[in-house]
This record gives sequence, structure tokens and C-alpha cells, in this order.
Amino acid sequence: MKPKIYITRKLPEQIIDGLRGKYDIRMWEEEEIPVPREVLEEEVKEVDGLLCLLTENIDESLIDRADHLKIIANMAVGYNNIDIHSAAKRGIMVTNTPGVLTETTADLTFGLLLATARRMMEAEAYLKRGKWETWSPMQLTGQDVHGATLGIIGLGRIGEALAKRAKGFDMKLVYFNRSRKYEQEKEWDIEYLPLEKLLQVSDFVCVMLPLTPETAYMIGMKQLKMMKETAVLINTARGGIIDEKALYQALQDREIWAAGLDVFEEEPVPVDHPLLALPNVVTLPHIGSASIATRLKMAALAVQNLTEGLAGDTPRNLIKLKKA
Ligand code: DGY
Repeated sequence: MKPKIYITRKLPEQIIDGLRGKYDIRMWEEEEIPVPREVLEEEVKEVDGLLCLLTENIDESLIDRADHLKIIANMAVGYNNIDIHSAAKRGIMVTNTPGVLTETTADLTFGLLLATARRMMEAEAYLKRGKWETWSPMQLTGQDVHGATLGIIGLGRIGEALAKRAKGFDMKLVYFNRSRKYEQEKEWDIEYLPLEKLLQVSDFVCVMLPLTPETAYMIGMKQLKMMKETAVLINTARGGIIDEKALYQALQDREIWAAGLDVFEEEPVPVDHPLLALPNVVTLPHIGSASIATRLKMAALAVQNLTEGLAGDTPRNLIKLKKA
């Protein structure tokens, strides 16, 4: 009997073509609609391998239904949607897709930083609504990016790729990370600072961390108040790292100048979310890794991990539990 695989979203045929002969594949055939929970709960009962997206909540109750499951291959670098501890208890491997999306996500992050600093979305709306009647000295003026201080919270792969881009804009670089990154400090001339100090000195603060119990709500009102009144906060990592209620208040009260958000505590973010109504917030629908080439690479890597695990090998991107 062929091993059974369930894929939770329609993937391009070129990605799954190679799997057809060897595996019994079932796939949720929609591209824009996530698999309903009740469908997933039924599907996991029989499968050996699950390829899922960050939109699926792979929690303990789902894992408990999956009697034959050997591997969960997430098509994302972040895996906060998966209860890795429950999976480990059941001997189920979990994999992610690091590396292939680093540069694309850093591009988007820097683009969002520029767009927020220079009020690009606001300016476009101004023009398209017919408000542009003349050129005037202080019209739609923003913050300079070149020469400013960029604080990177989380100097992992994407944080480092962001530092590389910022160098080209003559930015002064500082970072905060759980552990010091001595090699990167030398390579990018980036200075380690405790979080509080980073928040105080940075003109731009970029959140580049995974969402874990330790990083949840790491940026709340206390931290926002430490930032400069002219500072811009960018988040392309995960929504739950910033307390959105506090962020809304801080933006309203002009504790900080603006924010650029690609990620939200609840996704899709409700259209009536208060943050969306603020002119000094630029919002995107979680598109950090959304280039055609990168999404294809992520899908292919998730498939590779899945097949390696099902073949009894150690998948290349196996997630290992951190020792307490
Ligand atoms: C990830 O991979 O974790 C991103 O959020 C989506 O590419």
C-alpha cells in the first residue's frame, strides 16, 4: 500500500506531479479558502504525511486524531501554528521551510519600511482621490531612511538579510537577540544592545522574531513608550509579538510616528480593525515571502521534507525541540 498524504491547499501541479506514483495523495482543492477544520479532522485520521500551511491550527486535538501520522511538513519557516510538543510526544516529525524565503522576506520588509517612512500608500491615495492640487513645501513629508538608526529585534537569517540591505542606505545598525551574534556584528558593523536601549535609540525598529511563548507581546505599551516619537515600527514576523491594542493607542497618542504591518494577531485581519483606520499605519496581507519563485521553492522544500520523512530519513529541516 502506498503511504497516504494530505495536502491542505491546492499546490501547483509541477510541485506535486513527482509524488503521484509513489503516494496516495489527497488535497484540499481550493486556492483561496483554507480547509475547514472538520474536513481536516477527518482527513488526518488516515494519513502518514501532512503538508500544511500557516493557516492550519495543528493542535493537540488534531494530532490526537492522526493515528498513522509520521510527519507534518509546514510550508512556512514559522511554525507557531503547530503544537510541536504534542507532535513530539506522539513521535511525529515536524519540518519547516527556512532559507528559501530569506531574501524575499527581507526585500518586502525593507520595502514596507520605505513605504511607511515616506508615506507612500497615503500619498497614492491622496493623488487618486483628486486631492493633489499643488506641490507644497511640507506636503506628505515623512522620515528619512538613509543615515537613520535601524534596530533589528531578532538577528536570524531574515534579520541579517535586512541588515545587508540597510547597509546600502548608510543606516546605523543595532540589534537585540537572545544570544550575541559575534560574526554578524563584525560583518555588518552592527552593535548589540539590550532591548530597552535599542528601543530608545532606533529611528526604525523591525521585529524579526518567531512567535513563541517567550516573544508573545514582547512589544507592549511599556516598550512603545520607550521609542522615539519619530520612530517607525515594522513587523513582518508574526502578529502576536506586538500587543495591537497598545500599538493602536501609541499611534493615536503619537508615542511613535508610524507602523508598517504585514502580520496581525488575527489573520485575515478584520477590515474594521481600528489599526486599519489610522493614516500612519501601512498594512499588508502577510505577503513577506510572496514572490512566485519563492513560494514555489517553499512548496518544493515542504514536499522534499515530507518525502524524506516518509522514506525513513531525517528530513533536512526537522525541527528539534529546544532543551528546557
Ligand atoms: C513564514 O514562512 O513563516 C512566513 O510567514 C510566510 O512565508
